Amino acid sequence: MRRRVFSSLVPGLAALGCAPQRADAPRSPGSPPAGAPRGPDDEAWWSQIAGLYPPLDFINLENGFFTRAAAPVMDAHRRARDAINREGARYMRLSLLPALEAVRTRLAALLHTVPEQVALLRNTTEAMNLVLQGLPWQPGDELLGSDQDYPTNVEIEDTLVRRRGVVLRRARVPEAPASDAEVVDAFVRELGPRTRAALVTHVIHLSGQVLPVAAICAALRERGVLAIVDGAHALGQLEVDPAGLSADVYAASLHKWLGAPLGNGVLWLRREHIAAIEPLFADTSKASDDIRRFEHVGTRPAHDVVAVDDAIALHEHIGVAAKRARLLWLRERWVDAVASLPGVRLRCPRAQPRASAIATVAVEGMAPAALAERLWQQHRIYTVAIEHPVIQGVRVSVHPSTPVAHVDAIAQALASSSRRGPGA
Ligand SMILES: Cc1ncc(COP(=O)(O)O)c(C=O)c1O
Repeated sequence: MRRRVFSSLVPGLAALGCAPQRADAPRSPGSPPAGAPRGPDDEAWWSQIAGLYPPLDFINLENGFFTRAAAPVMDAHRRARDAINREGARYMRLSLLPALEAVRTRLAALLHTVPEQVALLRNTTEAMNLVLQGLPWQPGDELLGSDQDYPTNVEIEDTLVRRRGVVLRRARVPEAPASDAEVVDAFVRELGPRTRAALVTHVIHLSGQVLPVAAICAALRERGVLAIVDGAHALGQLEVDPAGLSADVYAASLHKWLGAPLGNGVLWLRREHIAAIEPLFADTSKASDDIRRFEHVGTRPAHDVVAVDDAIALHEHIGVAAKRARLLWLRERWVDAVASLPGVRLRCPRAQPRASAIATVAVEGMAPAALAERLWQQHRIYTVAIEHPVIQGVRVSVHPSTPVAHVDAIAQALASSSRRGPGA
């Protein structure tokens, strides 16, 4: 059903180049390489992945904000947009619903769950607002956050304190934990008598640290605390199975590591929580246990959602394990090159399973913004400065399309910045 409906909107996956190909099959421009990479350093294979993205005249090492969508995804996006503009209201009334259900089904499979537990939203921010503001808080109830929560989550937390009388508690996430137990303890230690829910970030935006979410959520659920996971940077980088992680709620953005067009997010809920959360946008037409009641935001650019199917197809063609291996290999190449340079301080975990594509680095005597500016002005390398009470530095995030030359360039640029010092 899904495939039939979808293929009536846009060409099938084979036409998009995402179907498995024989190694000797001719590739059309914009189609991914055949087969699987021989490893994270199979440059011939990965350079074909890089070829799916428009060329840039600078070095982009800020892939944490969002990642550009690849050519097959943007082709599908354009085709869906054209169909919408050709057919108008008829498309929206007849074709859109089955197309959305097709995406829901595919996302559910990616999350090892069923479509009834998946809401198609615009981003993690929307999902977090829906859940945290929609819970039945009583004044004096406690919410546990952490000292490294993403700023939009901090804004939601502050809003709950101001509007709903929620008491906020904060775990201090260790920067270089020696064990999972140390991280679990950082959360459990801060639970209070009225802690109803805790917000746990799967991959921290400041340092790329991957938290032991399964162990944290299990400890929270054992204590009757709702485990709400922000997976903005996890989905697409890691295998994500919210139920397997013991989460109650799992939210993620699809325009980050999954490579979907901008404006796509997902919310997974345990079935028993669907009716307990009050939607922010009124929807009285659906049953209280229908997760679709969280999607009621009026008319929106439907082609954005339709093309998620193609982003998942490309992601699955690469394979999450191969993708993660490539990301870690690229990251380790530059991190290892700068780790022992005098004046260079890494502000990210080195060892598995804590590391991700994101890593943060500081140069002694140089403010993060000054370092980011120097990287840009002198080396045409785009990064982002992190000025946070806990972690300061320049955040460098690689992508499967990042060429080796780009990670070598950041290593050399950091070496020259550390040699020259702040005044140079
Ligand atoms: C950890 C984390 N959570 C949430 C968000 C918000 O994502 P979005 O802007 O897609 O809603 C981000 C964005 O970078 C993030 O890093």
